[in-house]
Amino acid sequence: MANVALRNVHKTYPGGVEAIKGIDFEVGDGQFCVLVGPSGCGKSTLLRMVAGLETITGGDIDIGGRIVNQIEPADRDIAMVFQNYALYPHMSVYNNMAYGLRNRGMPKPEIDTRVQEAARILEIGALLDRKPRQLSGGQRQRVAMGRAIVRQPKVFLFDEPLSNLDAKLRIAMRVEIRKLQRRLKTTSIYVTHDQLEAMTLADILVVMNGGRVEQIGNPLEIYQKPATTFVASFIGAPPMNLMPLRDAGGFKAAGGDGILGIRPEDILLLNEAPAGGLALNLTVEAIERVGAETYIYGVRSQQGDAPTVSAKPGELPPGEVIVRVPGAIAPAIGERIRATAPREKLHLFSADGRQRIDL
Ligand SMILES: Nc1ncnc2c1ncn2[C@@H]1O[C@H](COP(=O)(O)OP(=O)(O)O)[C@@H](O)[C@H]1O
Ligand SMILES: [Mg+2]
Repeated sequence: MANVALRNVHKTYPGGVEAIKGIDFEVGDGQFCVLVGPSGCGKSTLLRMVAGLETITGGDIDIGGRIVNQIEPADRDIAMVFQNYALYPHMSVYNNMAYGLRNRGMPKPEIDTRVQEAARILEIGALLDRKPRQLSGGQRQRVAMGRAIVRQPKVFLFDEPLSNLDAKLRIAMRVEIRKLQRRLKTTSIYVTHDQLEAMTLADILVVMNGGRVEQIGNPLEIYQKPATTFVASFIGAPPMNLMPLRDAGGFKAAGGDGILGIRPEDILLLNEAPAGGLALNLTVEAIERVGAETYIYGVRSQQGDAPTVSAKPGELPPGEVIVRVPGAIAPAIGERIRATAPREKLHLFSADGRQRIDL
């Protein structure tokens, strides 16, 4: 077991693409770290640098107290699980798992012990003689996990391992990966673009954007206190409502303009806003009934939408607002509704969205 530390890590690809622009974070021994961010933000590049599959063009990567910048992938004591499984098609499940160990000259009885133990943990003992093509997607994913487990590495690296699975299986495997990691207590770094997967798996969440870290922390803390508007709209679905606020003078610490945020589930359909809270007049444009909940898509009217939080009320330009209410509630299209939120549920950001301002 080991901790992993990244210190001012940079990556510029030959040809000049600056994929990683200075990243620092540390994953403690046995922790599950998730890197999340939109496609192209540099997640795979960063993970491949930890694995040793990409050179590091600046900074240091430290695994278990040893700087590994110049260490070959095979000598880093890591195991990686990819999205496309990368199983050998002509080999049995058993041999797919045993292959890497044989290559390292491990004695046969020990290989057998490790493969059988991994198969037992992953419940694929009955599949050991099959070829990959005779397996379902979920079973193949388990074999790929098995191949990582048998190596008993210091660190597991996962690059979107569940992306190829259907929605139901993805959720089931997500739960299994977490249970497995808790049991093995192996330090893990997991890459995904799926914010829900990230929220549910992570001990520490690293939100990336454009080759940089936007925010690092405990997933719930990030959800409750996003540091920037990027994080506010990336983490959580449906996303946080963000509204430009002109003349935010009434807010403590906010000078001129700002951005006001409110999560769809923090909006209440009440006529009167709680003291110091927000009140909006909405016209219902669309609704989505997903069963337990209804998502209301409303448009704010031009007038009368001043947040009462402001002593000198700020002005909210019109725009769309999403409200998340219990499934039994379903207003008609075109209906005018009053939406309110208590002050403690409001988020305020600087006008450029780069800074959270405490209310
Ligand atoms: N081998 C490469 N050569 C040049 N640019 C690359 C290479 N691999 C990735 N990139 C670029 O680096 C950036 C980050 O890519 P990547 O790490 O794959 O992002 P993610 O995994 O978050 O989708 C992208 O702009 C991508 O086009
Ligand atoms: Mg990727």
